[in-house]
Amino acid sequence: MTQDLKNRIGIFDEISDQIVGRTKSFTRPSSLICSSKISDEDWRYLQNSANLYMNKCLPNSSFITDENELLETFAQNKDSIKNITPNGLIVPKRHTVLEYNLLVNAIARIINSAGIGDWITSWHIPLNLRIKHNEINEENMKRHHPTEHIHSDSWAGESADSVTVMIPIFGDTDHNRVTYYDPPDNFEDSWLGPLPSYADGAEIASRYEKLDFVPKKQHLILADFSTLHASHRDAGASHRVSIDTTFVPVRKYKGGDGETIHPWRENERATHKVLSSLGETHLFHFPDSVDQQVDSQGGFKHPTNLVVKELE
Ligand SMILES: [Fe+2]
Repeated sequence: MTQDLKNRIGIFDEISDQIVGRTKSFTRPSSLICSSKISDEDWRYLQNSANLYMNKCLPNSSFITDENELLETFAQNKDSIKNITPNGLIVPKRHTVLEYNLLVNAIARIINSAGIGDWITSWHIPLNLRIKHNEINEENMKRHHPTEHIHSDSWAGESADSVTVMIPIFGDTDHNRVTYYDPPDNFEDSWLGPLPSYADGAEIASRYEKLDFVPKKQHLILADFSTLHASHRDAGASHRVSIDTTFVPVRKYKGGDGETIHPWRENERATHKVLSSLGETHLFHFPDSVDQQVDSQGGFKHPTNLVVKELE
């Protein structure tokens, strides 16, 4: 096994050691992925925050509490809800500032309960809430970075040192989900550089092995960037909503920080301390109205403008 892979597994072992005593259920589907159950209280907080945020994106100031009705309403209105990208990202805008900050708060709370806040050098912000409808958006498959292609987010310019965070929240998450792929023993960090499109990574992806792992609701799933993943729908699958985001863990073997960030991404970082204090000392502000579209530069920039406001 290469040293690059050993280093990554070492960090995952240490992160796992932090989480394992703090959760009712913990599994390692591979040496580079872990899944831990979220407490009932943190889970209710997250579901309610996501619900408020999604409702705020609907026309006519609706307030739908039923999960299936909410997803169905999103599906019916998908052409009129302007802050959804072709990849299903529900983009925070000016009118959702309050609800979005609450949602991030809910995620920070889960990370704090897992005991890994101190292991995070920085987050990629803003964190993503994504809706994947039951049918593939064919137009999207022609773009540079459709999540249906097997990929590492580093191919779209994220730091290759990162860990992917995934939390399935609403809907048919058993059949409309993310599939994961494990690297071979000769993996090298050089496989994770930026690529013009995810399709350009097909040869690297062919070296990987698909894992038999289905991410579950009320679970926090962490996956090292040396794994690959793809959006997947079984036949007849319905809609789903999930959180996906990334952080860079503290890497002791590099002398602490050692984070490398693609230049297009350098304005998209925040510490865990900032994330944990939204509403108290900081606020994520989105100056754009829902009619102002942001150029995501072929998928290399987050499709919104975020200003981190200091409140004191
Ligand atoms: Fe991804």
